[in-house]
Amino acid sequence: MRIETLLAPGEIEEGLVKSKTVAIVDVLRACTTIAFAMSHGCERIIPVETVEAATKLASSLERGSALLGGEREGKRLDGFDLGNSPGEYTADLVKGKTVILTTSNGTKAITLSQGAKEILITSFVNLSAVARYISAHGCKGLTVICAGKDNRFALEDAVCAGMLINEVCKTGECELADGSQAALSLYRLHESSILDLLRSCEHGKYLAGIGFENDLKACARVDYLKIVPVVKDGRITAAKLGRGRSRSS
Ligand code: MLT
Repeated sequence: MRIETLLAPGEIEEGLVKSKTVAIVDVLRACTTIAFAMSHGCERIIPVETVEAATKLASSLERGSALLGGEREGKRLDGFDLGNSPGEYTADLVKGKTVILTTSNGTKAITLSQGAKEILITSFVNLSAVARYISAHGCKGLTVICAGKDNRFALEDAVCAGMLINEVCKTGECELADGSQAALSLYRLHESSILDLLRSCEHGKYLAGIGFENDLKACARVDYLKIVPVVKDGRITAAKLGRGRSRSS
């Protein structure tokens, strides 16, 4: 299979996502948080681009049926039920619920990729589950999109993209576009300590500085969750997974 990797969302073009299987990577923190929410029984997540659209949608739904979640500059928004920390999305709060989510980069990358056949929400915590989904579904091609930060490159997303490519290539022959080769090289440089990577990258340092050091630890737990959140028709739900191999080095 051919694997394209877009190292920053500014590279998204219709032809690279339309009718394709797309993996969106936002390690810090949207994709990690979505994986935690879904694994705690959240029924669906509706990603939206703006705060205004999120509050408007919440007010159009039955009172109490949906929670508002998300951040700007990493912090929970006024009037929102939840921020963007994986640990906030506990079963007590999200089980059986709809969450309307807006984040600075992750949900934006999702909405920019809406023409895709399917969008797989990818982070270190559910890495092997996503790789297994891709091989089990016989995907012919894959576009990996790094959500980045403020439309620019973010090291942690590129390393996670490289880890995904490394796993997918173990299951069959792959042709790697230049962006994929670059991501794979970065993964090989950082694979020995993902937590150190998250502590040293720009957004990790920012999050630790505003009190979210624990989030870095949650986001660094490689293969902690066996869940694949999938976006279809603008909604994120959990894909059913069969049995399969787990990550091997
Ligand atoms: C995002 O989507 O921009 C991120 O998840 C930002 C954050 O760390 O909250």
